Amino acid sequence: MTQMGQYPPAGHVLAHISDTHLLGEGRALYGKVPVEQRLATGLARLEAAPIKPDALVFTGDLADLGEPDAYRRLRAIVEPVAERLGAEVIWVMGNHDERTTYASLLFDQPDTDVTQDRVHDIRGLRVISFDTTVPGYHHGEITAAQLQWLRAVLAEPAPHGSILAMHHPPVPTPLEVMAVLELHDQPALAAVLQGSDVRLILGGHLHYSTHGTFAGIPVSVAAATCYTLDLAADAERLLSGVDGAQSFDFVHVYENQIVTSTVPVAGFAEVTGFSNSYRPMIEAMPAATRLEQLSSKLSPLNLTEAAASEA
Ligand SMILES: [Fe+2]
Ligand SMILES: [Fe+2]
Repeated sequence: MTQMGQYPPAGHVLAHISDTHLLGEGRALYGKVPVEQRLATGLARLEAAPIKPDALVFTGDLADLGEPDAYRRLRAIVEPVAERLGAEVIWVMGNHDERTTYASLLFDQPDTDVTQDRVHDIRGLRVISFDTTVPGYHHGEITAAQLQWLRAVLAEPAPHGSILAMHHPPVPTPLEVMAVLELHDQPALAAVLQGSDVRLILGGHLHYSTHGTFAGIPVSVAAATCYTLDLAADAERLLSGVDGAQSFDFVHVYENQIVTSTVPVAGFAEVTGFSNSYRPMIEAMPAATRLEQLSSKLSPLNLTEAAASEA
């Protein structure tokens, strides 16, 4: 494929999906949100897209009540898609998950209440699934033993660096209720990450897309596929979850940069665009001609008009 801009294609691509909140027997969340359907719709769009991820990273709250059947159904929905995409599935624990069912049903591990921390190697890109949950609670914590484990993992840099995937993101939130449910003792985590090869932190839990930095590392929080929290809800509402704006993110890992992009779970009516049939013509052009044809306001080749006449 012809390179159109300054950057060669990303070396690694991840799809970052969060907060699926599935229930047993395919029940609707709050009796209202068809969460399985939302997830399946998002995955169908992901599968049809031209961007092909190396891994699907699910940052927690996979099952709303930690029910065994919810994990079985999650695997049944996700794994065939991942297989067809040739993508690895990376699970992360969330506060709505239960460690014993998570470990036994997703990893075929006998019942265990130990923290669920795992290292995945995606062709030299290290993705660390880090468990920030506290049994019986919704806020986040990291134990001293986990910090020690993380320090040991990061002691050896990975060829393409590391991405830390954790449910509770280490960034402030303007939603006061969610601030109560934040990750505790964040300076201890910062101390471990400083100077490490961690290039990006992926999070969930907040149910809205948000981006920040932590210990100088970019933090990207994917919204949710189930329902989202509305930051612009009426001031009378302390917290407002709505059945809309569900999304997932693409993570493009370049040699020296990482770019995250948010994609809606639902598809919408197209109002402008042009078909892939233009590709051979555009690719065949010398770069200077391509720039003139696509960028000049005086260009005879107006693709917007072409799109309109196609319709
Ligand atoms: Fe959640
Ligand atoms: Fe959560």
